[in-house]
Parts: sequence; C-alpha cells; structure tokens
Amino acid sequence: MSDVFDRAIDRVLSHKNREVYELLQRSGLYDNVATAVRGRKVRVRGRWLTDFASCNYLGLDLRPEVMEAIGPAVRDWGTHPSWARMCCSPELYERLEAELAALLGTEDALVLPTISLIGIGLIPALTGKGAAIFADRVVHKVNHDGCRLARDMGATLTSFRHDELSTLEAGLTAHADATVRLVVVDGVLSTTGRLPALGRILEIARRHDAIVYVDDAHGFGVLGEEPTAEHPYGRKGNGVIRHLGLTYDNVLYVSGLSKAYSSLAAFIGCPRKLKPFLKCTVTSYLVSGPVPTASLATALAGLELNAREGDAWRRTLYAYTRTLLDAYWERDIPTDNDTAFPIVSAYVGSAENVERGGQLLFEEGINVTLQGYPLVPRDKGVLRATPTVANTWDEVEQLISAMERVHRTLPP
Ligand SMILES: Cc1ncc(COP(=O)(O)O)c(C=O)c1O
Repeated sequence: MSDVFDRAIDRVLSHKNREVYELLQRSGLYDNVATAVRGRKVRVRGRWLTDFASCNYLGLDLRPEVMEAIGPAVRDWGTHPSWARMCCSPELYERLEAELAALLGTEDALVLPTISLIGIGLIPALTGKGAAIFADRVVHKVNHDGCRLARDMGATLTSFRHDELSTLEAGLTAHADATVRLVVVDGVLSTTGRLPALGRILEIARRHDAIVYVDDAHGFGVLGEEPTAEHPYGRKGNGVIRHLGLTYDNVLYVSGLSKAYSSLAAFIGCPRKLKPFLKCTVTSYLVSGPVPTASLATALAGLELNAREGDAWRRTLYAYTRTLLDAYWERDIPTDNDTAFPIVSAYVGSAENVERGGQLLFEEGINVTLQGYPLVPRDKGVLRATPTVANTWDEVEQLISAMERVHRTLPP
C-alpha cells in the first residue's frame, strides 16, 4: 500500500512539475556531487571537469586573502550569530552595509542572507491589499514567488514583456489609483545575459509614480559605472544602474554576494528613510537566521580586493567572454548574447538536445549549466557557460572546441 508521501507526491505531480521531476530523475546530469575542486576544475563521478557552471565571476572563492579572512572573524564572533537580525547583529553587518551603499551610490543598504528571502519578504511587505504589481514575464522564479505571495495578500499581479513596454504603460495607467505600484524586473537576464531596457522601464515607472524592484543578482560585481572601450563592463562592479548611467530615483536595487563575491549574503540598496520600514516588515529580517560569520568576513575581504584589483579582473572576464562569443558566432553556434555579459548560452533546442549536449560535454571534460524544457520554453533549451576570472585561456579554448564538436553532433 502506498504511504502518505507517495500519495502526496503523486497528487502534486499530477497537476504540476512532473516534467521537471522526471527530467531530474532520468538524466543523471543534474544534482551532481563534486568530490574535489582544484582551481576551476571540479571532480564529478571520478572525472575532472573544467567548470563553466559556477557564477563566481570574480574568482574570489579561490583567493587566499578571502579564505584567510574567515579565521579571525570566526575567532572574534563565533561561527554563526544565530540571532534574527531584528534581535541583534554583529557589527560586521554595519560595515558591510556601509561599504555596499558607498560602492553602489545608494543612501543605504540592508543585508539579508539571500535574494530569495528578499524577494518573498520585500515584495509582499511593500505591496499587499490595494497595490498593483507588474512583473516582467521572464523575471527570475524567486521574484515570481514573491509576487505571487503578494497577490495572495491582496495585490493585483500583471505580467508584461520587457520588449513590449506599451503593456506596462497601459497597466500602470489602468491602476492609477492603486495604493502602491511596483514594477519587478531583473537587471541582467540569467539565461541569456541580455539586459531589459531598464532606462525606458524606469522612465515609464517614474512618470506613473511607481517603484521599480531591480534584481541585479548577476550584474553586481561585473557591470559598473562609466563603461569605455578599455573597460567595457565599466568600473568598480557597482551594478547595472550605474553601468547604464541611471539614478536610483524610485529604485529598490536588490542583489547578492553569492555570485561575483562567492559569499552567502544579499542586500537591498535603498533610500535611508526606507530602512526602518524594511526592518519591521520584511519577514527574514524579523524572524530568520542571519548570514554566517564566514560569509560576512569573505564579503568584506572581497570588497576590499575588488577596490584594488577588480577593474583588471573585469577586463580579463570581458576578454574571455568576447572570445567565446566571437568563436560561437564564427562557428554558427546559436547565441543571442548581445551584451558580452559572461553568460554565454548556446541554444540547442529540445530538452533531449540539452541532455545529450550535457552528456557530450561531460565526456569532453566540461561542466556547464543545463537548461531544458520545462525550465525554459520547449524550443529554447540552452547549454549555459559562465566564464569566471579563475578560468584560464586554455580552458576557454577547451570549451570552444568542445562546444563546436557538440554543436555539429546534435540534431538541429
Ligand atoms: C536573477 C536571480 N535572482 C535571484 C537568484 C537567487 O539568488 P539567491 O541565491 O541569493 O537566493 C538567482 C540565482 O540564480 C538569480 O539568477
């Protein structure tokens, strides 16, 4: 007789997520266990793979200065504060928030453990009954979750396409009497590396007196102010708003340190007057566990290194990405990355091609992120490579030759 868990799994899968469940069970390519890491090589199932799946863009996970920051901080503060932030926070938080605000150019910043916790905490906290939320159709799932939660608490939720902003404009006009209007977008799209037209979105939102929640999980640390031919990603890595020469008027800038900075922490860049409100309304500030001491320490050490060396790293990262994209285009490997952001996705079509491509790349000694249906639309499966500063030129060449062979092998 099936037990209560079998019945629950069966019932839930009968109306949602069956394809994800089956994909994960079947392919053997997801859910890998790494048994060792050496530089940007990772050992999986006894095989050393060159890793193009991490988003440790600045390579800080492997920097001795960052690792060495952990010991002294843990000796001073213990391994984990284990207070909810509302109760008490080590002063490391105050330093981190001040440094983040100074780097971003926001009035203030509030640090919480993850962007997911910010999304499901902040979006409902700011909206609720009588409010209207407008979410880009392709916004990251964690932000969709936050929006749906807010909808369950009484807000209306409409989605729009960032390449068809007339829908956004019409929605904002139709909800002119909403208590709060919140537009939710990602700064850099995590599957393609492309940017939505943020300047235009901000202009529309401001005209309608709406707030814009920008999730810049990928952009922070990579993109920064004043891009030039010499520094195409810009300087300082202070995020997509500064990169595009925009201002923070009406903006809540949300990002994290768990990609470019290899540290588990996330933050909201916000006006000073909003911070006390966030502290008493965002659930994860009120009742969740905090960022571990080790991550607070590595985040601070990473920011210090970034100030000294970051612009040189970003030039290397750009050179890797540019070389990859040029090679893909020369070889007709389909990609639509028009920004040279270090998310290089090769379109391979069906979920079967994603699985087969992942298997072939594994045999070639390459680890990439596999995104097939239902994670992306049916015909839009990708093999996603995210180069980092800790990769080498040899590894970039290895990826190009492997991807060329895989592209020739897979059916169109
Ligand atoms: C755009 C975007 N937002 C949010 C997240 C989740 O961030 P976190 O791990 O801090 O919850 C990701 C993670 O991949 C992401 O790509």
